[in-house]
This record gives sequence, structure tokens and C-alpha cells, in this order.
Amino acid sequence: MEPGRNSFFALNLETCGYHQDTASDPIILSSPNPHIILSSHHSVLQTNIILLCVSLISFYKPCPMQLEDIQHLTDTAVADIAAAADETALEAARVRYLGRKGKLPDIMAALKTAAPEQRPQYGQAANQFKTRVGEALDARKSALAATATPANALDVTRPGDLPPLGSIHPIRQIIGRVTEIFDRIGFTVATGPDIDSVFNNFDALNTPADHPSRDPQDTFYLEDGSLLRCHTSPVQVRHMLKHPPPVRIIAPGRAYRRDTPDATHSANFHQVEGLYVDKKVSMADLKSDLTYFAGEVLGPGAKARFRPHFFPFTEPSVEVDFTCHVCKGKGCRVCKNSGWIEIAGAGMVDPNVFQAVNYDPDAVTGYAFGMGLERIAMILLEIDDIRRLYDNDVRFLRQFA
Ligand code: PHE
Repeated sequence: MEPGRNSFFALNLETCGYHQDTASDPIILSSPNPHIILSSHHSVLQTNIILLCVSLISFYKPCPMQLEDIQHLTDTAVADIAAAADETALEAARVRYLGRKGKLPDIMAALKTAAPEQRPQYGQAANQFKTRVGEALDARKSALAATATPANALDVTRPGDLPPLGSIHPIRQIIGRVTEIFDRIGFTVATGPDIDSVFNNFDALNTPADHPSRDPQDTFYLEDGSLLRCHTSPVQVRHMLKHPPPVRIIAPGRAYRRDTPDATHSANFHQVEGLYVDKKVSMADLKSDLTYFAGEVLGPGAKARFRPHFFPFTEPSVEVDFTCHVCKGKGCRVCKNSGWIEIAGAGMVDPNVFQAVNYDPDAVTGYAFGMGLERIAMILLEIDDIRRLYDNDVRFLRQFA
């Protein structure tokens, strides 16, 4: 073995606690482990293998710390702790230096393996490490606490919390659209209450005493004899009782019927009532106004069709269909192959209604109509089930925001 090479290993190994056994052989190294002895008498190969083993052992068992290392580490730790930005960083530093897997156990290990004459110095260095690190931790802790923002502090620079914004319900959107269209031809909006009298809802509207719609199986009555209006027509009565002719109003609002809910029925729904009373109002006015409305709401080309019907409060009466928006009149599943969709009931105001509201049936004539708003909403917004309009499911409503 070359002497230079051997002494290099000896030097390295010495730093890890091995010392040269000069008594037995100038180039024999005895390790703290009695089984490892290095001798220059072995062949070069054997020596190298043994040295490799020793190096591996030293790799897995790190060299114990030197006195200066401990002192240096103390200074580094104190500076590191003083720089901790917040409580989390401070706690991480505490664990790093005093924790079970931190630096302190390494220092204690060095103390144990130190040569007996050096132990007091190692002990002192270890104590100093503990005291100075402890003090640094306390100092940083109080410093952080002093500058911390109190829990109830008001940060005026923080951006505000935006509450989730609601949107206009589809039915309200349709009411807005319908109102706007009729506004253009001179109609104003009138309203009435959801709870109304039998007089306004039935009697004044020429509804015979035995008419099926009066039956409690169809209409909701309240204990005091009033009812939840089953159509928006009572607003006609209310308005005419208060205002002399001419009258040109629409009345959007809720109505109630004892219907079992399904895809097209709901026990509460919306209608828009229309009433036009003046001298010489005719069926031609009704037809032209509703045809105009059909074109405005469904787009150019949409037409209105009028089929004879019966309502107690109009004579003659009609049912009004609009061109099917899906097939444009050709016939499809939505319109049951007819090319038309039923939208409204209408007719010329019955003279008996004029009498009930103190209008002179010989002086004025008028038309009235009532149409279902859900039907229009479902057509325009492509909604397949009326119940979705009442579920208040934001995932549904958001689509129309
Ligand atoms: N009120 C009727 C209904 O609810 C509709 C209608 C209103 C018919 C006005 C004629 C005139 O079915």
C-alpha cells in the first residue's frame, strides 16, 4: 500500500473517531468497533475492501460534531430563529433545532462520544446551544405576537365579499317582454290582488251560479268566503269599477286552480289579461292586436288563429292559437301535428259585464283576452316542464340570467 494513500484514509477516518494503533503497527487503524482493524500487511485489494466498508459505516453513522461545529450551529440557529417570518416558520425552526429529529440529539451524541477530557467543554457548548436557542425562540415569539393583527382587526384594503347575484325569474322576464309589446300599442298595466271576492272573480263576469269553475273542486275558497282568483279577469272588473271608458289595460299576475301538478299544469300559474273598451271596438281590433303580438313575441311570420269558443264574460268568444314556433306551422310533435299552439282565450266583452261595472253597453264595446304566461315562457325559453319554473333550482334559473 502506498503510504500517501494510506495516510489520506487514516486522516479521513480519524475525523470520524478512528485512531491509528501505532503500538502494534505504524499503519494499522483500529476503529471504535473492535472488529474493524486496518493493516498495511493485508493485500491492497483486501485493504481497499475494508476501507470501503468503513466508509459505508461512517456514511450511515454520521461523524459526531466537533466543538466548533456546535458553537457555529448555535449562532446559525439564533439567526435563523430571529428571521422566522411567522408562527408557523417559528415552530418549524423549533422542531429543526430542539425536536426529536432535530440538531439537539446530534449535539448530545457528540457529547457522549467526546474524549473524557473534552467532555466539560462539550457539555458547556451543548448547554449554551439549549439556552441561546430557547431564548431566541421566546424573543421571536413575543416579537411576532406584538406585531400580529388582532383577530377582530378591520382590514380596510381587503376586497369586499360579493354576495351571489340573483337574476330575474323567467316568468318575470316574459311579463316584461309582454308588457313592453303591449305598451307600444297604448296599453298600461293594471294589477289586482291574488285573494279576491266571488263578485269580482265570478258574479260580475256573468258566470252562472252553476258554472263548474265555481266548484270548490276547481277553485280555492278561503274561510271568509273570498277566494284565490282562478284567472286574472277580476282585474277587468276592478279597473272598470274605478275608471270610466275608454280603457286599454293589460293585467299580468298569478292565478290559482285546483290542478294536480304535471309537466303542463301547476296549481298556481300566471296569466296576462287584456281589456280594450271604447266606442266601436270590434273583433277586427282583437284580431289585429293579437296578430301583431304573435309576430312580436314569436318573430316575423308568426300568425294568430281564432277558433269559436265559449266564455261567460265574452260574446262572441274565441280561443287563440299562434303558429307553432318549432315547425313554423308545418306540423310537429310539439303542436301535435296541427301547426298551431293554443295561447289565449278571448272575445268581445259581454254586455252583462258592462252592466255589472256600470258601463253603458249601448255606448261602448270592447274586447278582452287572457293568456297563459307559462306557456309563452316554455315556448320562448324552451322549457320542457312547467314545474321547473317553481322548483327554485338555481342551476335551472341561472340559465336564464
Ligand atoms: N279568463 C279566461 C281563462 O282563464 C281567459 C279569457 C280572458 C277569456 C278574457 C276571454 C276573455 O281561461
